[in-house]
Amino acid sequence: MTDPSSEVAPAQPRGPAPSEVSAHGVPCYMKAPAKPRILSGMRPTGKLHLGNLVGALSNWVRLQDEYESYHFVADWHMLTTDYADTSGLQENIREMVTDWLAAGLDPKKATFFVQSRILEHAELHLIFSMITPLGWLERVPSYKEQLENIRDRDLHMYGFLGYPVLQAADILMYKANAVPVGEDQVPHIELTREIARRFNHFYGAIFPEPEAQLTHSPRLPGTDGRKMSKSYGNAIYLSDPPAVVEKKVAGMMTDPARQRRTDPGNPDVCPVFDHHKIFSSQAVIDRVNRECRTAEIGCVECKKLMAATLNEKLAPIQERRKQYEQNPQRVWEILDEGTARARKVAEATMAEVRQAVNLT
Ligand code: TRP
Ligand code: SF4
Repeated sequence: MTDPSSEVAPAQPRGPAPSEVSAHGVPCYMKAPAKPRILSGMRPTGKLHLGNLVGALSNWVRLQDEYESYHFVADWHMLTTDYADTSGLQENIREMVTDWLAAGLDPKKATFFVQSRILEHAELHLIFSMITPLGWLERVPSYKEQLENIRDRDLHMYGFLGYPVLQAADILMYKANAVPVGEDQVPHIELTREIARRFNHFYGAIFPEPEAQLTHSPRLPGTDGRKMSKSYGNAIYLSDPPAVVEKKVAGMMTDPARQRRTDPGNPDVCPVFDHHKIFSSQAVIDRVNRECRTAEIGCVECKKLMAATLNEKLAPIQERRKQYEQNPQRVWEILDEGTARARKVAEATMAEVRQAVNLT
């Protein structure tokens, strides 16, 4: 049952935070109402690329003022597919979180933490695993897809099937109202809602049902026109120096029908134009859209414009990145501080859960 003195704010709509409750337990409505809470995780893949920026990170940065934000490193989730070689794990965590900070995610506003350092996530995952029907998991689209598509390792593992159960534990632990994710994660959020409902049905209303908060950014192609992804080797990284960006952009795929400088092109099928649409000014977008079709602008010049825009966009990110590269210890400290804050919330939720399940 819900303990009214619990550290955890009640389910949606959330009431005042504990600090806004007077000594008599009366909420002080004079204070600003509690912000709604969001939570999102990222698997530690190392240095982030432009696809991560437009798909998730810039959204997180935008939301950190409006929401009480929790962002974590999903290192256990990484193990569900990359269990065989974990040698780069710590390095990848540090690089990824360095990019969070570089992109402007502010540890004074948002709480950053590492999943595996909060053992309560494992405990809640275990309890959820008792009430999650196998059929629900076998139906998750990413499960079937990855089993079929990832051929270089064996994914017929217990933990891999349970991936969305662990994700449900991550989300429900913090009673998040919303989860900012890309389209591909929607089935996982839906499953989280089903697990919450089933738990609440058996043991009492503990968990609110979270909503997916979709990132409405178009898919960003990589240099070869496929989805930008580290594993395809087609990514432009936030930490790529200007000369590397120029070189990668110069080698980008264009409209394949535009063979000669004098051939008119079709920007609608060109990955360079996709980048212009996301990063360039309206004036440049309009110009390329017009002059490509009439062969007034050549691909070389069009790409130069693109590279210049990207480098301008990346300059402040790389400037911020430098301070954390020079002082990597600071990144670990930020994660320690965030983990301690998040752990308080997790401990309070698990106290409620153990009580509800009679594991006292
Ligand atoms: N599955 C997510 C991804 O691959 C990562 C993730 C793990 C996550 N736990 C989460 C995202 C909780 C949002 C909320 O991107
Ligand atoms: Fe693509 Fe630009 Fe070349 Fe047109 S001019 S095909 S948009 S690179």
